[in-house]
Amino acid sequence: MKAADALNLAEERLAEAGVDTPRADAEFLVAHVLGTSRSGVHAARDRELPDEFGALLERRRNREPLAYVLGEWGFRRLVLKTDPRALVPRPETEVVVERCLALLRGEPGPRVLDLGTGSGAIALSIADERPDVRATAVDAAPGAVALARENAERLELDVEIREGDLDVAAEGWDLVVSNPPYVSPDEWDSLQPEIREWEPRDALVGEGLHEEIARLASTRLIVFEVGDGQADHVADALASLGYADITITPDLTGEDRVVDGRR
Ligand SMILES: C[S@@+](CC[C@H](N)C(=O)[O-])C[C@H]1O[C@@H](n2cnc3c(N)ncnc32)[C@H](O)[C@@H]1O
Repeated sequence: MKAADALNLAEERLAEAGVDTPRADAEFLVAHVLGTSRSGVHAARDRELPDEFGALLERRRNREPLAYVLGEWGFRRLVLKTDPRALVPRPETEVVVERCLALLRGEPGPRVLDLGTGSGAIALSIADERPDVRATAVDAAPGAVALARENAERLELDVEIREGDLDVAAEGWDLVVSNPPYVSPDEWDSLQPEIREWEPRDALVGEGLHEEIARLASTRLIVFEVGDGQADHVADALASLGYADITITPDLTGEDRVVDGRR
């Protein structure tokens, strides 16, 4: 089948399956099997697609996240390996990294902890964009630790990656950053199948972890990603724990997404 026909067929099939962005996903899948970029798909309209395309389309029709089907996903300047061992890195988390970089500006060789690193997205981006940072990435899930290590190796980025729990925050850092699980168990059933049926539940569901990390942490700077409607509560918790200069930053959709402070 030619790429142009496959695009139309895939768009139709994905729309039938309830995928939110069927045309964009069809373009990503076609681009992937042709070894081109999404913007290169138009120029490749007459090329024949390899058989592999059918299997990938079927996976996406089963509402497997596009990032798992493709096996990689862009995050800031990096392309990260992605699979069900860890959460798909989200665009809003890029703002978390932006905030860390802003807070670390002018600080030579800071020690940074990314707590709950998942694929390694935050720690690896900081290491990429601030090579003098001494970054450590920790996760409680052995699969996530393995994936983060694979990403560090592929990208040749120097980050210490280890399995561990929240108490690592107490080891003494210049900056602790975390995007902890923050979805309440009540919300679970309302999530998209891509999340509910494919992403690791332990990476998503959690309550009170921002406060717990902030209480445990021995750090000058702390940066959190928060869920919709959680920013004011987390900011108040930071204030009551003695943090100052508390700042709330919105993501690109305008939702308050990052809360940070210092002490
Ligand atoms: C929302 S995901 C964030 C993943 C990645 N940092 C990102 O932003 O894409 C939360 C991560 O925290 C990890 N995690 C959950 N509880 C933890 C704990 N008590 N100690 C360490 N990591 C934990 C999960 O395994 C998961 O990888």
